[in-house]
Amino acid sequence: MDALSDPDRFEVAQLARRRRPGYSLEAPFYVSDAVFRADIDAIFARHWLLAGVEADIPQRGDYVTLEVGPFSVVILRGMDGVIRALHNVCRHRGARLMSAPRGSAAKLVCPYHSWAYDLDGALVFAEHMAPGMDRSCLGLKPVHLRNVSGLIFICLAEDPPEDIEEMAHTVAPYLAPHDLANSKLAHQIDIVENGNWKAVMENNRECYHCSGHPELIRTFFQFFGHTEADVKPRQQRYYERYCRIRSEMDQIWRELNLPSELVEKLDDGATAFRLERLALDNAGESYTLDTKIACKKLLADFTNPRLGALSLHTQPNSWNHFLSDHAVISFILPLSADRTLLRTKWLVHKDAVEGRDYDVEHLTEVWRKTNEQDAAFVSLVTKGVQSPAYEPGPYSPNENQLEKFLTWYMDRLLKYFDGHQPMLPPPAPHLESRLSS
Ligand code: FES
Ligand SMILES: [Fe+2]
Repeated sequence: MDALSDPDRFEVAQLARRRRPGYSLEAPFYVSDAVFRADIDAIFARHWLLAGVEADIPQRGDYVTLEVGPFSVVILRGMDGVIRALHNVCRHRGARLMSAPRGSAAKLVCPYHSWAYDLDGALVFAEHMAPGMDRSCLGLKPVHLRNVSGLIFICLAEDPPEDIEEMAHTVAPYLAPHDLANSKLAHQIDIVENGNWKAVMENNRECYHCSGHPELIRTFFQFFGHTEADVKPRQQRYYERYCRIRSEMDQIWRELNLPSELVEKLDDGATAFRLERLALDNAGESYTLDTKIACKKLLADFTNPRLGALSLHTQPNSWNHFLSDHAVISFILPLSADRTLLRTKWLVHKDAVEGRDYDVEHLTEVWRKTNEQDAAFVSLVTKGVQSPAYEPGPYSPNENQLEKFLTWYMDRLLKYFDGHQPMLPPPAPHLESRLSS
């Protein structure tokens, strides 16, 4: 994937500068290849991305791979127990080293000419090379990694945003009680959504469409992002139930020292995030059809199954839910202008036994269906915005998190256009005229 040609840079910057606040974006932001390349370089190559969880790699030698635009990264646990991220590119002639999505290895061995690397990236074997070759310069290139209470964030930039520390510090007391370090991966599902990554994120940030999620709203109150003024007369009894349950949950959280104050830092820093502890409807225990726990062995040392849900959203690519019995981790990786990978992981206590404590079908049902329903909504947007009749439409007040997300996005994009050098290589001269025509 090439960086933008100058005419493309100019055009994308113009589009960003003329964005109308409070409205959805112009169509090129959802379908144009030039905007997609800008997004990879300005956003995904320069910000902290959720890329996995500690439970992906519980044993020494375990690894997972993932692709971020043209980058490929291997995240692994070394023989010293340390979690690292490395560029998945052989230092000989550039072959992709590890092709499997996950596995376990004592060394990373290139399938082409068998150069081998230790799990800290050091080159330890390279046959038939000239004497005197300095192997110490040919280790795998490191990728910045920050383990935030069991969530693994990576940053592809040379100088990553330092405010990840502020996020980690803020998130820790909220997440620590759920003890992700002692969880295990119960299930993972990848789906490819037919939509731009921003359409996927926008869709996730509002509950205006929540009546399209019959399974989710058995627990999820439809007042997410709403104020009391948004409550419709027909919702009055529903809202009273929400208030009653919310005050019961406030008391439970206080007694258990579970922090519950809303933290919203969505548009005022490079590492943007939002934390909220939510009361859940009916039994209020978990995101299941019967609203009770899906795993009998609770996370951490919890004894009360009714803890509601802690929600953590991070920009540009994740939303996560932490309950008493399991956690649902979801992050996106852009594939093209109009295709996005959504990776969802369900975590349970490491000692929980499948078939005895939980059933995967039951554990995953609500978010599996919700994700499929969201993918259908996103696909409708992708189709619709390609019509010449499309023009940006106004957001509802309860879509305020979309506005904050897009304010953040435009700010990051314009900072990139105003000063940063592209990380992606410039287009080859023979391609430049085609790209800009
Ligand atoms: S490209 Fe990896 S060993 Fe040759
Ligand atoms: Fe949704």
